[in-house]
Amino acid sequence: GDYFTSAMALTESGVHHVPTRYILPPSQRPMLCPSFATDTINLPVIDLSFLHDPLLRPRVIHEIEMACKGFGFFQIINHGISTTVVKDALDAATRFFDLPVDEKMLLVSDDFHKPVRYGTSINHTTDKVHYWRDFIKHYSHPLSKWINLWPSNPPCYKEKMGRYAEATHVLHKQLIEAISESLGLDKNYLQEEIEEGSQVMAVNCYPACPEPELALGMPPHSDFSSLTILLQSSQGLQIMDCNNNNWVCVPYIEDALIVQLGDQMEVMSNGIYKSVVHRVTVNRDIKRLSFASLHSLPMDMKISPAPKLVDGDKPAAYGEFSFKDFLDYISSNDLTQRRFIDTLK
Ligand code: SIN
Ligand code: FE2
Repeated sequence: GDYFTSAMALTESGVHHVPTRYILPPSQRPMLCPSFATDTINLPVIDLSFLHDPLLRPRVIHEIEMACKGFGFFQIINHGISTTVVKDALDAATRFFDLPVDEKMLLVSDDFHKPVRYGTSINHTTDKVHYWRDFIKHYSHPLSKWINLWPSNPPCYKEKMGRYAEATHVLHKQLIEAISESLGLDKNYLQEEIEEGSQVMAVNCYPACPEPELALGMPPHSDFSSLTILLQSSQGLQIMDCNNNNWVCVPYIEDALIVQLGDQMEVMSNGIYKSVVHRVTVNRDIKRLSFASLHSLPMDMKISPAPKLVDGDKPAAYGEFSFKDFLDYISSNDLTQRRFIDTLK
């Protein structure tokens, strides 16, 4: 039925065990890493301030190329989004999740095509196993088109989250330029499409969980975006190291943001760069917040490998798809066991 209990409500009610519907089959349960475990991976940390210096830019582009050819996951510092903007947005999110359930329920929906929606797990009506996560997702670009649909409570939400969303959009354009350059493409490759493209922000809340070894905050998945910019308030994210078939923890670095390549970038780069599978663990002690800003090409645009990256030796490795195809697909298919782009091969 339409039974809805948020993870937040469960934590607040003081449960000592996770309800059965959150318990993963043993093979899918996480190994939890303490803060300085050896399986915390040293992702590259790239200082973006040098991107604006013509003499130093090539060095940063090279670092980005190496990071993209590695995991396609890296952290950035001096990224231009001020600490105040970040703190304010975290504050707005905290206040939103602290609202009474009835208030948040005004925005609840499990329709993947809806531009603003509150929810829990991934899809609370169809998920066989539930995930220990509440979220609010909102389309964010162009901001003026969507912001009126955003939560009006807390009253500061639109302004504070709006400033973060805009700053993230500016940053993502700089990153797309740098990544295009790192592939040997023109820096302005797809510039217009990117301006017309979409930005979906998933604002996630993972409350403290009484049995974190039995549950996950989010199942393994790759992002459908071209690029995702992620802010996390503490550690919890893990990525799949395919070389060793091993989950590794992404460390928390204060004031850093995480950049991850999505499926659209894997297709555009004709597989030179990969979109990496990741998942979210939860913990016993503290509530974790994350903002995943997913940047995509326009909804109906068919995405295909850049012509410059396709030739006789390297034929196009992917079928075309659009963001809309992806949404239609996830509305009726489970993507926890395979990546969407692997269904195109
Ligand atoms: C996501 O994969 O979209 C969320 C990641 C996180 O919460 O760290
Ligand atoms: Fe993700």
